[in-house]
This record gives sequence, structure tokens and C-alpha cells, in this order.
Amino acid sequence: MRIILLGAPGAGKGTQAQFLMGRYGIPQISTGDMLRAAIKAGTEMGLAAKRVMDEGKLVSDDIIIGLVKERIAQDDCENGFLLDGFPRTIPQADAMKEAGVNVDHCIEFDVPDDVIVERMGGRRVHPASGRVYHVVYNPPKVKGKDDESGDDLIIRDDDKEDTVRARLGVYHEQTEPLVSYYSAEAEAGNCQYHKLDGTKPVDEVSKELAELLG
Ligand code: AP5
Ligand code: ZN
Repeated sequence: MRIILLGAPGAGKGTQAQFLMGRYGIPQISTGDMLRAAIKAGTEMGLAAKRVMDEGKLVSDDIIIGLVKERIAQDDCENGFLLDGFPRTIPQADAMKEAGVNVDHCIEFDVPDDVIVERMGGRRVHPASGRVYHVVYNPPKVKGKDDESGDDLIIRDDDKEDTVRARLGVYHEQTEPLVSYYSAEAEAGNCQYHKLDGTKPVDEVSKELAELLG
């Protein structure tokens, strides 16, 4: 099963990707996590990406498309994958299509901007696994620690309120056009499009996903 998770920053893509990965045994491909790993490794690309990410802007299509193509070609993607945070621009979606990468489902998480801004202040992450928590809505078992590894959780550099607002602006301008793009793909019979209310509690969103994906 090949799935695109579409939604604003903080809409819950990473959270539900973790759920879907466990349920369907397909890997999560998070371009954001891949970029953060490159930053941590101190690669030239990572350092260039960090400047852009800290401003809440998008990394260039060429770099991202190259990263995703390379990742999708790996063996563990044979039975499908979850695209989390990609595609994010029309050229990225077109590049996928041109490369012959079809998707089965495009899932949009609908969450208003004011809810997002409030959510991001409480996000805590475990970078090594991609697990995501929230101090109130999805707390870890032990405060400040990852449930499975016990490692410290961190706050992402781009979760400052100003950066979150910049990211939301970029989302509406450059990523939201993909709602029409994939709705049209669905109308043409190329995939299924689902819009979910992402303001519901984490477990309820997961339940709805399980129901619609089977
Ligand atoms: P990326 O890492 O992809 O960030 P994003 O899209 O902005 O999304 P987030 O990870 O912030 O949110 P999410 O939807 O995963 O929400 P989460 O589940 O964590 O990208 C970062 C940057 O990298 C970009 O700004 C850009 O610069 C660059 N980049 C990445 N991909 C790119 C691309 N394709 N092209 C160009 N540049 C790219 O949840 C958020 C919080 O809410 C958590 O605390 C969670 O616990 C909580 N939560 C989740 N669901 C619920 C719920 N239902 N109810 C209450 N709380 C909830
Ligand atoms: Zn995420």
C-alpha cells in the first residue's frame, strides 16, 4: 500500500505514520526526518537545509526529489510506503508521477491554523525513531522520556511560534494546491482521496484511518 499523508505542519502526519507503520508494516518516509538526520550528521546538504528549515521555508525541490527517489528504491519499500511531508509542491508531485510512482491513497488531515499553533508549543520528539509526543494530548509514560528507549525527548528547532506561523504560510501557498491535485487524481481513478478531521483525539483519527484503509 502506497500512502501520501498530506496536511499542515503539526496536523498529525508523523503521529499517524507511526500508527500506520505498525499496522501495515510499511516504512515511513519522512522528508523532514531525513533532513534532520542530515543536519545531525553535519553533511553539506544538511547544513544548507538547516538554514532554510529554521526560517520555515521549503528546501529545494531538486534536493528533496533526489532524496525520496533514492529512498523509494530501497528494498523495504517494495510492498509500499508512507510518504510523510512529501510531496509538498506541485513540481514534487509531478516528479513522482513522471518517475512512475503511483499512490493508492492520499489522506488529508484537516486542522485549523490556531489549533496547530497551540499544538506545536507542546510537541516533544524522539529523533532516532520519529516518535512524536505532546505534553498534554499524547504524553509519554515518563515525562520527557521516549516510551521505548527511555531516551530524552527534545523540542524541534522549528517549533518556535514565529517559525510555525511562517511554515503555515508556506503550507497554504505551496502545499495546499496538492489538495486539488490529488482530488483530481482521485476523480481520474488514479488513487483514493480521503479528508479526515485532524482535530479529533489521536486514537480517534487512528481508528478512522484503520476503518478507511481496511
Ligand atoms: P516536517 O518535518 O515534514 O514538518 P511539517 O510538515 O511541518 O510537519 P510536522 O512534522 O511539524 O507535523 P506533523 O504533521 O508530522 O505532526 P505531528 O504528528 O508531529 O518538515 C520540516 C521542514 O523540513 C519543513 O519546514 C521544510 O523546511 C523541510 N521539508 C520537509 N519536507 C520537505 C519537502 N517535501 N519539500 C521541501 N522541504 C521539506 O504532531 C504535531 C503535534 O501534535 C505533536 O505534539 C503530536 O503529539 C500532536 N498531535 C498529533 N495528532 C494530534 C491530535 N489528533 N490531537 C492532539 N494532538 C495531536
Ligand atoms: Zn512530522
